[in-house]
Amino acid sequence: MKKLLFALLFLTGTSFSIMAHNADKSTVCPSTLFGTWRLDMVQPGNVTLTSYFIIRPNNKLFEGTIVINGAVDLSFSKPRMEADEAVFSTDWNRDYRLKMTGDKLKVVIAHTNKPWEEGVAYQVPESETKPPTFIPLPALTTVPSNGLAQTPPMGWNSWNHFGANVTDSIVRAAADQLVNSGLAALGYVYINIDDCWEGSRDLKGNIVPNDKFPNMKKLADYVHAKGLKLGIYSSPGPLTCGGYVGSYGYEEQDAKTYASWGIDYLKYDWCSAARVYTNEQLQAAFQKMGTALVNSGRPIVYSLCEYGMGDVWKWGTQVGGNLWRTTGDIQDNWKSMSEIGFSQSSLAPYAGPGHWNDPDMLEVGNGGMSSIEYRTHFSLWCLLAAPLMAGNDLSTMSAETLSILGNKEVIVIDQDALGKQATQILKQGNVQIWARDLKDGSKAVGLFNTGLSPVTVTLNFSDIQLKGKQQLRDLWLHKDVGSYKSKFSAKVEPHGVILLKVKPCR
Ligand code: GLA
Repeated sequence: MKKLLFALLFLTGTSFSIMAHNADKSTVCPSTLFGTWRLDMVQPGNVTLTSYFIIRPNNKLFEGTIVINGAVDLSFSKPRMEADEAVFSTDWNRDYRLKMTGDKLKVVIAHTNKPWEEGVAYQVPESETKPPTFIPLPALTTVPSNGLAQTPPMGWNSWNHFGANVTDSIVRAAADQLVNSGLAALGYVYINIDDCWEGSRDLKGNIVPNDKFPNMKKLADYVHAKGLKLGIYSSPGPLTCGGYVGSYGYEEQDAKTYASWGIDYLKYDWCSAARVYTNEQLQAAFQKMGTALVNSGRPIVYSLCEYGMGDVWKWGTQVGGNLWRTTGDIQDNWKSMSEIGFSQSSLAPYAGPGHWNDPDMLEVGNGGMSSIEYRTHFSLWCLLAAPLMAGNDLSTMSAETLSILGNKEVIVIDQDALGKQATQILKQGNVQIWARDLKDGSKAVGLFNTGLSPVTVTLNFSDIQLKGKQQLRDLWLHKDVGSYKSKFSAKVEPHGVILLKVKPCR
């Protein structure tokens, strides 16, 4: 056995370094590591993001906190020594590898989903990591409704595919493609710039975009000329999740700036607000921007992003919100999508015209799921009356992806004027049935198979409060399936769905 291991180590350098790290797990952490370290990294748009490592001794090892991009405090998870590197993990899809070099700290950020980054940190006083002084929040009130989003907003958002690399030209191209692909005509009208557009504040405190966005007003004019609307992103905290400038202390001014640029939609993301406010202050903090948007004089859809914290669905409308996130961030895989999508039933009473639950943006076409799974994703989101924000690169969109995002019969379910979100009717093993009422008296029903082998699903009409003969239409096959007396059975493929419109026969 030993010989075999030796041969393996000899043959591959990679295996050798892994084994060497493991063998050295017991290495004592050097005391020079302890203290507060500042890491500056220049990001796309020529913006410098600052992270802090606050490192303390813990037995022979270390413990501590990282303030990622100055925005999010996370405790080190699994701190360990691997040879002379101090390594810890975070639930932000990355490990950090730290190594003393002279009086500096070499930092490698080992991302799981993108290339690793490297930088050098230097010591600073711990007081530098403190958030800005607390600015008192307004007393709770009811922000008047803006009357927007009578059906769930539809459009495209830059984050899921482009992340920090979003630029003015990517946004313009997305606007072109939304129109040219025919998606705009189907209702996808919002072109939303997510995080990483922000630069700094000018001497008057006005927010200025970074180098990737030369002129926001001109960009808005371009998007408007195509018959589309432009959305933007900020945070109630001093910094966004990406570490870019947030709206803390500048809420009114930012709302006015957005209005002057011609912005039609704001996604407002909690993130570093957690460093200045408590969770009990969520409502007041979101209300502050809700009021500012109403006072800006321009109709702006208000999208709250707080990962489902603080039972937002109970007060989201009161702060002027048109939609609110109900969960953490979606990822482009079946596990993430299905965990989010199938967990939304109890929130159905809170959705309705003007105010929607937001289970996060679409991943359709981003490559991490099969077409069957993307059809399930899209069907579920439409049953849930979810906002439909495409998150893919529209310029490389396949015909298959377009046929999913552009399925008119399914979009019509999402956009039904009654605004009733589906609930789970049945869950038995890998079978789930979800249904929602539609304005014309019919129902949309999804027969889902969450398992890995085909399964026959039976829909009893009595389970969805329907009596007598029903007419069925398959919304993916675009075919009438026929009339059935009391039930309907069909085989559903693994991770698949049959999406039906069920209409009483007259
Ligand atoms: C958070 C949000 C995401 C995205 C990023 C941007 O994680 O939940 O949707 O906006 O921030 O930094």
